Parts: sequence; structure tokens; C-alpha cells
Amino acid sequence: MDKIVIKGGVPLAGEVMVSGSKNAALPIMMASLLTSEPVVIRNVPQLRDIATALSLLHNLGVEGRWLDDHTLELCASRIISHQAPYELVKTMRASFFVLGPLLARTGRARVSTPGGCAIGARPVNLHIRGIRALGTRIQMRHGYVEAHADRLTGARIWLDTPSVGATENILMAAVLARGHTTLENAAREPEVQDLARMLNAMGAKIRGAGSHVIEIEGVERLHGTEHTVINDRIEAGTLMVAAAITGGDVLVRGACADQLKATIAKLQESGIEVTPEADGLRVRRKGPVRPVELRTLPYPGFPTDLQAQMMALLAHGEGTSVITETIFENRFMHALELLRMGADIVMKGPTAVVRGVPRLSGAPVMATDLRASSSLVLAGLAAENTTEVHRVYHLDRGYEALDSKLRSLGARIERVPDRGAS
Ligand code: UD1
Repeated sequence: MDKIVIKGGVPLAGEVMVSGSKNAALPIMMASLLTSEPVVIRNVPQLRDIATALSLLHNLGVEGRWLDDHTLELCASRIISHQAPYELVKTMRASFFVLGPLLARTGRARVSTPGGCAIGARPVNLHIRGIRALGTRIQMRHGYVEAHADRLTGARIWLDTPSVGATENILMAAVLARGHTTLENAAREPEVQDLARMLNAMGAKIRGAGSHVIEIEGVERLHGTEHTVINDRIEAGTLMVAAAITGGDVLVRGACADQLKATIAKLQESGIEVTPEADGLRVRRKGPVRPVELRTLPYPGFPTDLQAQMMALLAHGEGTSVITETIFENRFMHALELLRMGADIVMKGPTAVVRGVPRLSGAPVMATDLRASSSLVLAGLAAENTTEVHRVYHLDRGYEALDSKLRSLGARIERVPDRGAS
């Protein structure tokens, strides 16, 4: 296992390129199960979660090969298994996304339920309810969802909450169902829209992705296609906060202003300059970080996946900020580590009150989940002296080469073997 060692205090400067979106690429990879023809997926980031998805698909019989560093060809000409085992689903919840496409293509699937997660309970009841509404017989046995359907049938489905994963799973099942499906209170995230674009390019008939109501006209079969995954708006936001927290001046190339409206608004409110340029967003900070009130919400609201990074920024500023997390019930684990770096944060239920301090101080800290780990790296960039971030495997699940990208902007950051790691 590695750790990341950061000597803080260098304002970042220069240009950096955003990678392809992990959260878009994962369901898009699972969608390859829906056709026997090859699909070519471009702009796929090199990440641990992508490798996990590849081995899951490989177990199911999908042949995968890299055509270049970021282009993947997947071909599910033969499905040889119907099972997503616990070992894979527990390491990556997105493995659960094979339920919909596997069922739609073959009429059966046996997928482990994901269980708990560091940031909250994260049930899959909405995935199951939606798939069941499409005419699937579902039994829960020995920790697995066992699903059978002779032919899925379109239905009217209402999601209690606009779950990203449930929307994607149901979408991948409904495209091959007989008749019409209406999915109401659907998630509107850009990753859902990207999946719908990919499915439509495969011959699906989906309308309304990006709105709360998605209409799907089932088709008999889908065919192969080529698709380029959207850039990672969460990585883009993380790099923007890196520029801001260090008082730097960075052009984040490939950052899409349209997908980052809430993030840009909050950064600007806190005194950060964000300027759209031809191929990205330029982020600069000259004055102090000012306090803001921030609430995580489904898209287009402020993303929960950038909450930890914003907390690091606001901890290193002036005045008192209030952050409310409304998506996950236990997503302040990073706050406890930020306290060890001299932050002044009080948590009560879903709310964190962050009183800015003039300077964070470097410390050994431990990553607890993906976004928490990036917030600790950001805090380390701004802190005095040295910060060591342990358990960086969380970071490697979802950020492509974050340490070398930050180094290219002048950060004093290195990855070394963590000899003390258990
Ligand atoms: C996806 C993202 C994750 C992001 C999250 C919210 C991927 C691979 N992951 O996760 O990075 O943080 O969206 O933007 O795309 N819920 C239920 N029942 C369900 C499903 C969800 O109650 O069946 C609840 C969850 O517990 C949570 C909320 O709905 O409180 C939103 O979760 P959801 O949108 O499903 O997140 P994921 O798809 O798991």
C-alpha cells in the first residue's frame, strides 16, 4: 500500500487536463452486456474501479481489450455466467449495475447486494423495485438478488428519490423490455445522460434523459457502437478546489461549465475567480476564502461528491461556513481528519459548521473513502509542513494520476510505499 506525502504551501499554477468520468464509464461498460456486438468506449480513465468492472464483466464472459490507454473494446458475444459475486460487489457498489442489463439480455441474473458503505447505508431497494415492476420475479437469498424474467415488460415507475444508480439500472433493463416504460423522478445527472446517449447509439429509444421523466420505448435488440465518455466533473471540481485552496492560478482543461454550475457559484461566492476559457475553466484566488452556506443536492444542485473538498477549502478561510449533507447520512468522516490538521469544525447531524482558520497544519491522516481522501490531499496542499495521507487506495479507485497531475502544477507531492500500513 502507498501513502501520499505532501509539503504544503505552494500556489498551484499552469494547466491540467481532466480525465474521463468514472461514474459515467462504469454503467456504460455494463451496457456492453446488452449486445452481442463489440462496443468501443473512448475516454475511459485508468482506475482501480474500472479494473474491477473489467474483471466482473470478464467473469460474465465479456471479452475486453484496451485499444489504447483510454479506449476499451468490449464484446459480450457469449454470456457464460449470470452471477456478480459478493467479493466484487463489496469492493465496488457499481457492480450492482449488471443486474438490469444481464436480466434484459438473458432473462436471469444473480447479483450480490452491496451491503454497508463508509458513507451511509446506501440501500438498493429502488433498483429492485424498478426491476420488479418490469415483470421480474425477484427473490432475496443468501445475500443475493436472484432475478428471472421471460421477457421484461414496460411499466410506469416512480423513484422515491432520484437515485443515480437505480435510474441507470432500470434504464438498462427497460431498453429491451416489451412496450413503453416511463421512469418518473429519475436522476438528472450528466452521467445518466451519457449512458442514455450510449444506449441510443446502440439502437435504444430513450427520450427525456436529463429531465425528471425518462420515456423508454423497448426494442428487440441493440447493436454495437462507439462512444466517448464525458469528462469527470468531480475530478474537474477537485482540481478547481486545488487551485483555490493554494491561492493558485490554474486552467482546468476539459472542465465543463454547464455541468459545474452549482460548484462554480459556490466557489465564486467564496471569493474565487472562475473564468470560462475556450477549452476549460480558469480558477484563481487572490484574496482570502470567504464563508458560504452549502447544501448537497441531486443534480443540478451542489454534488455530494464535492462536499469533502469544499469543506477543506472553507476550513482554510475566513468566517463561518455551514455545510449540510442531504444525500448520504454519514459523509463527514473527512471532518474528523481535518480536525487533526487544525481545522475548526463542529458537526451536528447532517450539518457541519466550519470556522475558517488562517492556516491548516500538516499531520498524518487517514483516507476513509474516495472523496474524503481527495479532500485530505487538498488540505495537505494548503497546510504548513508535511501531511501524510494513508490508505490512498481509496484515491486510486476514482482519480486518475491525481498526484502526478498536482505535481505538474508545482505541488510538492509524492507517493511512497506505506511501510507502517496495516
Ligand atoms: C452515485 C455515484 C456516487 C454519488 C451518488 C450521488 C456512481 C457509481 N456513484 O452513487 O459517486 O455520490 O450517485 O450523487 O455513479 N437510495 C435509496 N435506495 C436505492 C438507491 C439509493 O434509498 O435503491 C438513496 C441512497 O441511500 C442515497 C440516495 O438515494 O441516500 C442517492 O443515492 P444514489 O443516487 O443511488 O447514489 P449511487 O448511484 O449509489
